[in-house]
Amino acid sequence: MNPSVTVIGCDGRPLGPDAAAALAAARTVIGAPRHLKDAPVPDDAERVELRHLGQALDTVAAHPGPVTVLASGDPGFFGIVRALRARGITPRVIPAVSSVALAFARIGLDWDDALVLSTHGRDRQQALAAALAHPKAAILTAPGTARDLSRQLQAAGKTVYVAECLGTPQERVAEASAREPADPNVLIVLDEIVLDEQAPGERRWLAGHQGAPDGWALPEDAFAHRDSMITKAEIRALALARLAPAPGRTVWDVGAGSGSVAVECARFGAHVIAVESDLAQCERIRDNAGRHQVRPRIVHGRAPEALRTLPPADAVFVGGGDRAVLQAAVQHASPQRVVVTLAAVTRVGETAALLTALGYRAGGVQLQASRLTPLPGDQFRLAAENPVFVLWGQR
Ligand SMILES: C[S@@+](CC[C@H](N)C(=O)[O-])C[C@H]1O[C@@H](n2cnc3c(N)ncnc32)[C@H](O)[C@@H]1O
Repeated sequence: MNPSVTVIGCDGRPLGPDAAAALAAARTVIGAPRHLKDAPVPDDAERVELRHLGQALDTVAAHPGPVTVLASGDPGFFGIVRALRARGITPRVIPAVSSVALAFARIGLDWDDALVLSTHGRDRQQALAAALAHPKAAILTAPGTARDLSRQLQAAGKTVYVAECLGTPQERVAEASAREPADPNVLIVLDEIVLDEQAPGERRWLAGHQGAPDGWALPEDAFAHRDSMITKAEIRALALARLAPAPGRTVWDVGAGSGSVAVECARFGAHVIAVESDLAQCERIRDNAGRHQVRPRIVHGRAPEALRTLPPADAVFVGGGDRAVLQAAVQHASPQRVVVTLAAVTRVGETAALLTALGYRAGGVQLQASRLTPLPGDQFRLAAENPVFVLWGQR
């Protein structure tokens, strides 16, 4: 059976005329206790209190007659509409203002360039990684998770606002503190630059993340580097393809050198941790990150020791280091993808074998690029780059 379902969004303001008329005519009203309490549910209507989405869906699907569902904000945005449609129900939707729109409005900030993330029923690490990498984000928090998330984001230098109980008398919007905020709440996570009124962001045509960066596998001169110690563009192209950096993914760049791989992964929206033992190189990574307007976390330390306290990663790039470094990186990060670049022929077999032994499908290629280089008279010659082995593993 496909019951007739009307979903009314609630944002704390009085219902608009369409929603008020739909609710006045309702015979069965399903919703969270707070929505049932606050909305003008007719006295003679049956009220069904819901606390979980799964339970809500079962109740809606099992109900013989038309039902009205009260939901928060815009029910088509991280709300019940998708789940209803997945059960073959096409509801009539009367939306209210989303909590995300309200939260940004309360701090007077535009948000077409924001990422919107949810930790409901999902791995929190993903939302955390995405918010760490992007200058402006909103997080729809699962109950009881806001304080811990805020703490981690603030520790990384983010400004975090908590918007609690929007549209209710308990509403509170303030910078995150040590207190556990009341649920429900939305976190607004910002880089300093976003709050700088002298630096208004660019006008956008595409909301949220902008997709692939404007060019990648950038030439070496797009990065400050020392003695040509930089992963060459052709090698970086394949490494990036195999690492698959993206918003919500964490990538370690172990032995990061100039940070060219780290910076490029961050340009794809990944949260990047660059590990480098040389302090001058760490400074160079910071400069290169600034030049490309990304914020990798830079860890000054020597692998494998420096890897022990890092959060897990989705992908690991090992551009420098021996067998022990690769083994430790894989064991600590537990990544889906690993990429290793090697100049030494003798290490190729043992590295491929190690990746296989660690549970990866191993592959690899030797790349040797010859670049077109101008000669006088509109002619070109081929200038050979050193051959490099690129090995990878995928789980
Ligand atoms: C399943 S999502 C629903 C989002 C909803 N569709 C919207 O547009 O706001 C639930 C999350 O929305 C946020 N939320 C909903 N109502 C809120 C409120 N009144 N104040 C603050 N956050 C709220 C919280 O992060 C909550 O965990």
